[in-house]
Order: sequence, then C-alpha cells, then structure tokens
Amino acid sequence: QIKAFLFDLDGVIVDTAIYHYQAWKRLANELGFDISEEFNEGLKGVSRTDSLDLILAHGGLTLSDEKKTELAAQKNDWYLELVSRMSSNDILPGVATFFSQVRQAGLKTALGSVSKNAPLILERIGMTDAFEAIIDGTKISKGKPDPEVFTKGAAELGVSPAECVVFEDAVAGVEAGKRGGMFVVGLGSPDTLAQADLVAPSLESLTVETVLTACS
Ligand code: BG6
Ligand code: MG
Repeated sequence: QIKAFLFDLDGVIVDTAIYHYQAWKRLANELGFDISEEFNEGLKGVSRTDSLDLILAHGGLTLSDEKKTELAAQKNDWYLELVSRMSSNDILPGVATFFSQVRQAGLKTALGSVSKNAPLILERIGMTDAFEAIIDGTKISKGKPDPEVFTKGAAELGVSPAECVVFEDAVAGVEAGKRGGMFVVGLGSPDTLAQADLVAPSLESLTVETVLTACS
C-alpha cells in the first residue's frame, strides 16, 4: 500500500531545469564548445560536480581540480542570478491542485533533490512547508542515479521503499527511484523516460487517484 509520494524539484515542481541548462551552456560556450538540449537530458538530476565532469569530457577538456572548483562556482553564480527573480508564479501548472489531492488522500510527502540550492528554491516559491522531509544535495553523498536521495527520504518519513511513489523528470532520477525499489512516475516524454512505471507529460495531466490505481 502506498503511503508516501517523493518529489524531485527541478523540472517537477518548478522549471529550474531550463536555468541549469542555460548556465551550463554559457559555461561550455566560454570554454569554446556547445551543449545540445539532447546532451542536457543526461545532465538532469546529476550533481553539480558530476555534471561538470560530463560537460568537460564532452568538450574534450581535462582540467585541474582547482580550475574545476572555480568553474562549478561560476556556473552556480549564473544559476543563482537566473533564479533570483523566481516566485510562487513559477510553480509548474498542476502542482497546487495535485498537492491538495495528496493532502486529502493523507499521503506523506518528501522532496528528493540532489541540488544544494533546493531549500533556497523552496523558500522562493513558498513551498517549504509542503514537504514533511526535505533531502537535498547537502544531505547525500551520492547523486542520482544512486537511490540514496530517495531511500533517505523514505527513511525520514518512516516508510518502506515499496510504500513510495517517486515523481521524476530526469533519466537519472527515474533510474534512482527504480534502483531504490519504488514505483516511478516519469514526467516528460515516454521515449526519454522509458524506464518509468508510468509516464505523463506533467503533474497537470495526473490525479492522485490515477497514480494510486496504476500502482495497485
Ligand atoms: C538537480 C538538477 O536537481 O540538481 C541538476 O536536475 C543539477 O541539473 C543538480 O546539476 C545539482 O544542483 P545544484 O543546484 O546543487 O548545482
Ligand atoms: Mg529534475
């Protein structure tokens, strides 16, 4: 029986995925190459340091750890600049309705994001109180596709993985949920998120009842 819903943040609750992409693209451009939207799919849900390693490998660059720390900080500064004007208006369509259904159904909720900026974003959009547990990039040692971020969320809520549903827009995030032993709802394209148990374009096109029926 399902007792908890675990939500990714970037690309599920709020469209910060585009800002991560813009900031990484700017960094790649300054280094003399470009990253496509398709390449960016593989960066979604991946930690800041792992993303930088993938980008540098893509551009055929090998840099010192010192330089990499500097570039990661630069990307984050640009990202923070892009998200600084965000407000509750940026919450994705369907999220508010879906969360009121979640409360009605008496389900527990946790955030499972590898972003170290997750608490800041939640404050900006006024959704900190929507989650009983918040697992972010500062609380984990391994990013997605490792299941740690979700297994920690389940543990903090006091539920087992089999009692959880994960909502994810990233290939790495879907894999993390599956490896954690959870039912995974992929939000995006069925081609990209083929590993998910159920795929929908966004939370707007789902109801809690549809999800619970699909799990049973
Ligand atoms: C994930 C994003 O939520 O967080 C990734 O999908 C991002 O694109 C990762 O790299 C880490 O985020 P941050 O904010 O700690 O750099
Ligand atoms: Mg995401």
